[in-house]
Amino acid sequence: MTTVRDIRAKAGTEAITMLTAYDAPTAAVVDGAGTDLVLVGDSMGNAALGYDSTLPVTVEEVESRTAAVARATSDAVVVADMPFLSVGVSEAQSIEHCGRMLKEANADAVKLESGPHTVELTEKLVQLGIPVMAHLGLTPQQVKSTGYQRQGTTKEDAQEILDLARAHEEAGAFSLVLEHVPANLAAQVTAALDIPTIGIGAGPDCDGQVLVVNDVLGLSDRAPPFAEQFGDVKSVMEEAVGDYVEAVESGTFPADEHSHVEDDLDELY
Ligand code: KIV
Ligand code: NA
Repeated sequence: MTTVRDIRAKAGTEAITMLTAYDAPTAAVVDGAGTDLVLVGDSMGNAALGYDSTLPVTVEEVESRTAAVARATSDAVVVADMPFLSVGVSEAQSIEHCGRMLKEANADAVKLESGPHTVELTEKLVQLGIPVMAHLGLTPQQVKSTGYQRQGTTKEDAQEILDLARAHEEAGAFSLVLEHVPANLAAQVTAALDIPTIGIGAGPDCDGQVLVVNDVLGLSDRAPPFAEQFGDVKSVMEEAVGDYVEAVESGTFPADEHSHVEDDLDELY
């Protein structure tokens, strides 16, 4: 069992791997491959729930998906990604929402899209026993204000990201996601922190990398240019489903061996 302490200790030593998952079978594959952390990202909005942003994703959706992922994960650290407005409205409500992810869904940690408003909250959550992963740079829940533009491109913005990274480390975050920032800024933040940085579109010098699993598998209609497709699962699915439809329509399925099954199915389940 990997713990958040193991992840922290990996900073500057071994590369840390994180991928998203939103359901049990995908989590089992991600965990089985030796990935250090499974993120139940609010990217499920686009990747699993058919929304066109992360904004509509609810606490209940993340909680249910996190529970499914946790049931299928034996080794990796399971991180529940707190959706839009689930934290920051009031401290009590923020803590209640984050707490549910550990108490009800069996997550090991939560991730918050971070900013000046999450420094105190991070400290409070950590004091209460809820490990926190911070997230700076492009934070897609801010899409209505920032769009999906690269962040930290001016001297002032870069300095703000560096300052907020230090503040969240100080507040007790065990790691920090850096999304869509210049590689040299990510390298600078990584050098300035003791906790590991996990980059997405942040260059090669972070302590770890994260991608959305749909992009890795080739299941996305659109993937960001900083992602890499490592497989073509969509084609495999299309072929299998097409073959099934054809087999039923042509009468080759079900065949004899499917049609007279007398076995007791108890031991299957
Ligand atoms: O929701 C998500 O998948 C994320 C990662 C891209 C870091 O926040
Ligand atoms: Na997210």
